[in-house]
Amino acid sequence: MLNFLLALFIAFFSFSSAQSLTGSRILALLPETKIQTQYSTFFEQLKERNYSVAIKAGSDKSIELGKLGENLYDHILFLCPKCTKYGKNINLPSILKFVKNGGNILFAADSEMSQFNYDLASEFGVVFETKESAVIDHTHYYNVPTSNSTIKDTVIARNLNFNKHILPHYTDNKSQPEIFFKGIAHQFNKNSYMNLSILSGSLTTASVFKASKDKLSVIPPSSQLSGYNLNLVSVFQTLNNARIAFIGGTEMLKDIYIDIQKSDNIYGNSKFLKDLSMWTFHESGVLSHSSPLIYKTLDKISYESYQIKDSITYQVNISEYNQGKWTSFAANDVQLEIRMLDPYIRTTLDYTPSGDLEFNTFKKVITLPDKYGVFKFQIIYNRPGLTWVTITDTIPILPLRHNQFPRFLSQAYPYYTSSFVLLGGFVILSALWIFSPTFNK
Ligand SMILES: *[C@@H]1O[C@H](CO)[C@@H](O)[C@H](O)[C@H]1NC(C)=O
Ligand SMILES: *[C@@H]1O[C@H](CO)[C@@H](O)[C@H](O)[C@H]1NC(C)=O
Ligand SMILES: *[C@@H]1O[C@H](CO)[C@@H](O)[C@H](O)[C@H]1NC(C)=O
Ligand SMILES: *[C@@H]1O[C@H](CO)[C@@H](O)[C@H](O)[C@H]1NC(C)=O
Ligand SMILES: *[C@@H]1O[C@H](CO)[C@@H](O)[C@H](O)[C@H]1NC(C)=O
Repeated sequence: MLNFLLALFIAFFSFSSAQSLTGSRILALLPETKIQTQYSTFFEQLKERNYSVAIKAGSDKSIELGKLGENLYDHILFLCPKCTKYGKNINLPSILKFVKNGGNILFAADSEMSQFNYDLASEFGVVFETKESAVIDHTHYYNVPTSNSTIKDTVIARNLNFNKHILPHYTDNKSQPEIFFKGIAHQFNKNSYMNLSILSGSLTTASVFKASKDKLSVIPPSSQLSGYNLNLVSVFQTLNNARIAFIGGTEMLKDIYIDIQKSDNIYGNSKFLKDLSMWTFHESGVLSHSSPLIYKTLDKISYESYQIKDSITYQVNISEYNQGKWTSFAANDVQLEIRMLDPYIRTTLDYTPSGDLEFNTFKKVITLPDKYGVFKFQIIYNRPGLTWVTITDTIPILPLRHNQFPRFLSQAYPYYTSSFVLLGGFVILSALWIFSPTFNK
C-alpha cells in the first residue's frame, strides 16, 4: 500500500508539468521545419497539454534519439514519409531501442513513402500498401475546394473502434464521427493481441493504384485491401507498454483537414487526433496497481505460506490514468488464477466502487485447493486500450501436519464398531472356552 501511494505521489509530483506519465519531450520530424505552419492546430493541442515540441527536419544531422542508453525524447512524431533517413545515423535498431526504453511513436505514412519508413512500420507488423496507391471511396468522399483534382481520395471515414480507453470523447458523447482522411491503407501481417485497428474503411472504401497525380488507375494493388479490413489508423502496444500509432496519411493532421469540419457536435479530426495522441503518449488507458494483499480470512494476518483448504482473502488496488488524472478503475473481468502448472482456481475478483478514491479495491475470498505444492497467484490482465498488467506472487501451500487431522470421523463409525464387536466377541469366546464346562464338549 505504501509503495502504491508513493508511486502515485511520485507520478503526481514529478510530472505535474505535463499530463503524460512518461514525459513531456516530443521530437517532431518533418520534411522541412517551415512546414510546421501546416500542422499548427495539432502542435497547438500538444503545447496546451504542456508538451515541449522540438520540431526538426528529418535530415537534420544533429538529431539524436538517445545518449548513454537514455532517451533524449519521450515521444516521436514521424511526419516525414518521404525521408529516406533520419538524422546522421539513426537506423532501425536505434529507433527500436528508443521504443524498448519506453518511448512512444506517432507515425504518419503517405502515398509516396521511402523504403526506410516501410521497414520501420514492418518492425511492428504493419504492412502499408505499395507505393503510389491511394484509398478512395466513391460514396463517402469530400471535394477539397482548393484542389483541382477529380480523384475521390479524401475519404470521410466513420468506422471508428469503440474503445473507451483510446477514444473516450467518441464513446462518451456518442457524437457522429466524421474523419477526413487522405493517404494509403495498411494491414497487419500477423494476428496478435498487440495491434488494434482504430479507424478503418467502410464497405465502399478501396485501395487503388495511383497512375498519376490527378488520375487513378482501376487496377487495385496486389493485396486488394478493401472495406472493413482496410486500416486507415491503427495502434500497437509493445510488451513494455510503449505505444505506436500508425496513421495512413499526413494530410489528416494538417490544418486544412482539421478545418473542414469544426462543429462541436461532430467527432472530427481535431477531437480524434487529441484522443489518439493522448492515448499514444500515455495520458489515457494506463493502469497502475498496488502489490496484492493476501491474508487468512480468519485472523486477517498474512503468512509466508498457507495450508490446504485455508480460506484466504486476496485483494489488490487498481487505478487508471485517464485523460491526465488518476481515477478508480472499474471492470468485471479481472481474473485471478491460482496455478501449479495448471490453474487450480480461476476466479473473477469483485470490486466495490470506492467513490471519490483514486482506485478501486478488487477482492475475493478463496478456499485454497486441496492440493499442496508451490503455487503461483497470478493476474494477467491484457485488454485492448489498456497497459498490460501482470501481477504474480509465488506462495507455497502446505499439507496438514500429522496432529492436525481430525481424530474421529463419523464416516468411520461402522469400522470402529466392527473392531469393538470383534474384540468383545473374542473376550466372550475366550471366557466361554475357559469357564464353560460344556463349551468344549
Ligand atoms: C487498498 O486501499 C485500502 C483503502 O485505502 C487499504 O485499506 C488497503 O490496504 C489497500 N490494499 C492494498 C492491497 O494495498
Ligand atoms: C500546464 O502547466 C501549467 C503551469 O505549470 C499548469 O498551470 C497547467 O495546469 C498545465 N496544464 C495541463 C493541461 O497540465
Ligand atoms: C487549380 O487550377 C487553377 C486554374 O487552372 C490554378 O490557378 C490553380 O493553381 C490550381 N490549383 C491547384 C491546387 O492545383
Ligand atoms: C460532450 O459534449 C459536450 C457538449 O456537446 C461537452 O461539453 C463535453 O465536454 C463532451 N464530453 C466529452 C467527454 O467529450
Ligand atoms: C491484429 O491484427 C489481426 C490481423 O489483421 C487481426 O486479425 C486481429 O484481430 C488484430 N488484433 C486485435 C486485438 O484486434
